[in-house]
Amino acid sequence: MSKEAKLELDGKTFSFPTVEGSEGEKAVDISSLRADTGYITLDDGYGNTGSCVSKITFIDGDKGILRYRGIPIEELAEKSNFIEVAYLIIYGNLPNRAQIENFSGLLTEHSFLHEDMKFHFEGFPAGGHPMAILSAMINAASCFDEELMHWQWGKVKQFDVYVAKLISQVRTIAAYSYRKAHGLPLIYPKKAYKYTENFLHMLFSSPYEDYEIKPEVVKALDLIFLLHADHEQNCSTSTVRMVASSQANLFASASAGVCALWGPLHGGANQAVIEMLQEIHKTGDDGSKFVAAAKDKNSGKKLMGFGHRVYKNYDPRAKIIKQACDEVLSKLQINDPLLDIAKHLEAAALKDSYFVERKLYPNVDFYSGIIMRALGIPMEMFPVIFAIGRMPGWIANYKEIMEDPKSRINRPRQIYIGRTLNSYVPLDDRK
Ligand code: SDX
Repeated sequence: MSKEAKLELDGKTFSFPTVEGSEGEKAVDISSLRADTGYITLDDGYGNTGSCVSKITFIDGDKGILRYRGIPIEELAEKSNFIEVAYLIIYGNLPNRAQIENFSGLLTEHSFLHEDMKFHFEGFPAGGHPMAILSAMINAASCFDEELMHWQWGKVKQFDVYVAKLISQVRTIAAYSYRKAHGLPLIYPKKAYKYTENFLHMLFSSPYEDYEIKPEVVKALDLIFLLHADHEQNCSTSTVRMVASSQANLFASASAGVCALWGPLHGGANQAVIEMLQEIHKTGDDGSKFVAAAKDKNSGKKLMGFGHRVYKNYDPRAKIIKQACDEVLSKLQINDPLLDIAKHLEAAALKDSYFVERKLYPNVDFYSGIIMRALGIPMEMFPVIFAIGRMPGWIANYKEIMEDPKSRINRPRQIYIGRTLNSYVPLDDRK
């Protein structure tokens, strides 16, 4: 018999069932709260609200634990790769040889965009942000697919094809948006290249010669994708689930996820971290002045790449990326002053009571931009790299809703605090 939660309201006692997850997380199931009591809950920013049950990713923010389908991120980072982890997150298990070969084959088969998509790229101005282009072009790509345009929720004939199309084409669209923004000819994917190699090829090759694929660069970018692959109900994944709950098609939901991810408090933070480090570097400060500003509410400054709604400990991804930073920069013989500033900022913040009291630690975005800079990825593409990495998580959450026969449209309530009943005032009578 599960424990019950009692609620005293207006002299009455109400009971609500509780739920306990496989890792001991507990919740009060308030599905009948409004019907039983006439009350709803209010939870600004959903910090205390579970929107769903899920089997995909587990995070323990106090202990700094992150597991995809139960496997610790540290093990996956060391032993796996992005495409294998994408399969794990979407289908629930590590693929056997036949499954990964089939999945890789689908990704290769669907890496090209419809040729007419080029005209859509032509319509964007050179300065268009690649996240705006990515979101728009994911939806544009769906217009070339009959089944996506007439999406039969839960009865999709070849959902696995759409999984592969979205994962493969998001990479092609991202590369094309970069090429378009820089007035460069589009470079088509190569059949011989694996996922991450092909992305680098489409980004940096020229019609005259192929980009030199360095294993250490491929490994570092693949690790970045892997570490971003899912993160339970973050802002953008919750957006994907919100759109999916209306039974919109997979591409429409992913396109909405890109928009939510773009914000500087979320996936745009990796770009904001580099801009912050560059600003510090330009002023010749070692970061101390910036840390002081970040503590001052009136400064409008935050220590970007620090803090997290769930992690009140070091983000395990940040630990892995920080170590990879040192390795990649030494292998590529790059000495980036921004890395030294970042390390100084981290050391200063982790000793400062303001950050310690609020349990603010480096998150996934604090060091990721430095690696991407070292790989030659332009800064405006940083959130796009995050979106490519997060695509498997968005797809897995979409699939989880689509396969749940009890799923219903998400429709939160509100408490109205506006004007009470009043009447229309003709224009001539208004002040
Ligand atoms: C991602 O949710 C996910 O899972 C996201 C993500 C994923 O993989 O999907 O992990 C990816 O989005 C990582 C976060 C990237 N964003 C940033 O690095 C931006 C900087 N961080 C902050 O904006 C903030 O920490 C958030 C947005 C990440 C979390 O915000 P919360 O949970 O709403 O926390 P809060 O703003 O209520 O902060 C609590 C206190 C406040 O001070 P007080 O009012 O208590 O005095 O901490 C302060 C905040 O002012 N604070 C910071 C700070 N972050 C929080 N002060 C200075 N610098 C910061 N970075």
